Amino acid sequence: MGQAAGFWILLCGCLLLAWTGLQPGSPREDQGSRVPPKPFRTLLAVPEPDPEEEEEEAAVQDGIFWSPWLERLLLPSGFPEAEVRAWEAAVRAARVLSLERGCGRSSNRLAVLSDGSRACVRVGINPEQIQGEALSFYLARLLGITNVPPVALARAGSPQWAPVQDELRRAQWPAGAIVSLTPWIHNLTGGVVPPAALRSGGGGDAGGLHSRGAGLQNRSRAELLELVQWTDLIVFDYLTANFDRLVSNLVSLQWDRRVMERGTSNLHRRPGGGLVLLDNEAGLVHGYRLRSTWDRYNEPLLRSVCLFRHPTAAAIAELHRRRDAPQRLRTLYMQREPLAGELGFLAPEHARHLQSRIDLLHGHIAHCRAKYGR
Ligand SMILES: Nc1ncnc2c1ncn2[C@@H]1O[C@H](COP(=O)(O)OP(=O)(O)O)[C@@H](O)[C@H]1O
Ligand SMILES: *[C@@H]1O[C@H](CO)[C@@H](O)[C@H](O)[C@H]1NC(C)=O
Ligand SMILES: *[C@@H]1O[C@H](CO)[C@@H](O)[C@H](O)[C@H]1NC(C)=O
Ligand SMILES: [Mg+2]
Repeated sequence: MGQAAGFWILLCGCLLLAWTGLQPGSPREDQGSRVPPKPFRTLLAVPEPDPEEEEEEAAVQDGIFWSPWLERLLLPSGFPEAEVRAWEAAVRAARVLSLERGCGRSSNRLAVLSDGSRACVRVGINPEQIQGEALSFYLARLLGITNVPPVALARAGSPQWAPVQDELRRAQWPAGAIVSLTPWIHNLTGGVVPPAALRSGGGGDAGGLHSRGAGLQNRSRAELLELVQWTDLIVFDYLTANFDRLVSNLVSLQWDRRVMERGTSNLHRRPGGGLVLLDNEAGLVHGYRLRSTWDRYNEPLLRSVCLFRHPTAAAIAELHRRRDAPQRLRTLYMQREPLAGELGFLAPEHARHLQSRIDLLHGHIAHCRAKYGR
């Protein structure tokens, strides 16, 4: 009851603001969370304010969270749980009918499976990269981040690979290697350029991505949806210490001023606008080993972002409060991945890093709330 009353008061306030915003010469607040007022006509033509419509006024809620209407629009752009489960079951039951060059570097392969689908197969430079690929996916699911394609492990040379024995020999993978499979994703485009607010990686007066930055005004829905996904990307790559996306580009900025305009490594876009975080081999294991090199980029980049998806922030708060991020990740991985035991989990030292990154991120979100929260 109290909430409903508050809502109507807020709504009237918004309408009033929209009204005054239309008066010639009246100062307009320069706040990122405000979108340009609707044309006058619409305000008068609607006899009763439509809550759905009014909710769409602001892109940001409480100063640090993307609004629920953006969450709803975002839903179709990721890999939904049902689709992920169905793919996992299908790929584990299928035989590998052919293996061709494709899916990136020369040791990767594009496989055609007996259910007619295609999958990218990677062997990694070593098993830690395959661990990174698989564990990154499960961490994303734990956080409710759906932009990471599903990953299933397989043992190359097991009976399901009988049809491709010759191709396997030619691939020269280590005998019986555990490889990762991800679904082939149609019609991806590369060259995804980071938003201007992130292009300098949080160094200097970069501005960053927050509700009072100039960056949110006049954005189309498509642009806002992409920004929402970028904020998850920064959080995710910070947690996994994955330097092989935006951070590696930031390093190249030193000798190549235009590197950002050419797009971001290992990031693609689907036709509907969903971003796809491919190739997470550098995440967690490899990334944690090299963290002393890369964290001087990872951390400022994280600190330059003060906007979050509410579900992501809620997941972080929970993992921080319970201090069980590595245990939860391990449980999920063991439950879902039949080869988890053979490939193994994070070393205890790296498991502790995961938790401390969760804790640092939680602290950063609290800092954003203190600075921008309303
Ligand atoms: N699952 C996939 N679906 C569609 N295309 C893919 C997929 N995986 C990789 N690719 C294509 O292959 C390229 C290289 O992939 P990536 O995973 O980054 O491999 P690597 O870095 O090991 O060479 C990508 O830029 C993309 O064009
Ligand atoms: C990919 O693009 C082609 C050409 O635009 C289209 O015919 C096809 O349906 C698309 N495939 C998917 C899976 O979206
Ligand atoms: C933003 O919108 C206003 C009013 O609709 C317009 O005058 C202005 O040019 C736009 N600015 C940008 C950067 O698109
Ligand atoms: Mg790559």
